[in-house]
Amino acid sequence: MYNIIAIDGTSGSGKGTIAKEVARRLNYTYIDTGAMYRCVALKSLEDNISLDEEDKMVNLLKNMDIRLTNDGKVYLDGRDVSTEIRTEEINDRVPKVANIVPLRLVMKDKQREMATKSDVVMEGRDITTHIFPDAKYKFYIDASIDIRAERRYKQNLEKGIESTLEEVKKNLEERDYNDMNRNTIGALKRTPEQHYIDNGKNTLEESVNEILKIVGEE
Ligand code: DC
Repeated sequence: MYNIIAIDGTSGSGKGTIAKEVARRLNYTYIDTGAMYRCVALKSLEDNISLDEEDKMVNLLKNMDIRLTNDGKVYLDGRDVSTEIRTEEINDRVPKVANIVPLRLVMKDKQREMATKSDVVMEGRDITTHIFPDAKYKFYIDASIDIRAERRYKQNLEKGIESTLEEVKKNLEERDYNDMNRNTIGALKRTPEQHYIDNGKNTLEESVNEILKIVGEE
């Protein structure tokens, strides 16, 4: 049995950066499950599949080869889509993809399969609750909405993406709402077993060390 570190958390909380660094330090495989949903959003758009054609969406995922590298690159059927899956168009489409229940069930199989090949740090919204409810190590990474909005706004400026702080904040609030109120399976939830990490108060280094300490201690 391989080790699994399961991480959930809010959008823009820095959970991806933290998960990637924890994986690097422990020499585990880093799995960004959000990127997997983004691949489905991209491919369905390219293949003109509409979001209400659920069977087609599910088949698309079943036949898709998604490869994630430890430095955060994403390959869809061998093609590097790391940048393409992060456009505004995909940002808008992916929450609707993530609300398709049968698709989430196929994701579950794929994600569980990924943890049969190596130790993993897997990060998303339902990893601690739905994908690996029995994982030994579970974390919930968060930061206040104002801190997340401020950080995302600065990242946008650096990337040359035009936005206002208010827009960024509203967008994050909408994403939180969708993730937490998905009235089917896979909603983002706080549970007593998760270790809560406040990545607003912490620096990246502090959050990573908090996780490593727990993983080493238990
Ligand atoms: O973390 P992200 O923004 O790349 O996630 C993309 C979308 O997928 C977002 O709408 C949340 C959703 N998601 C999910 O429903 N379950 C996961 N395990 C990971 C992401």
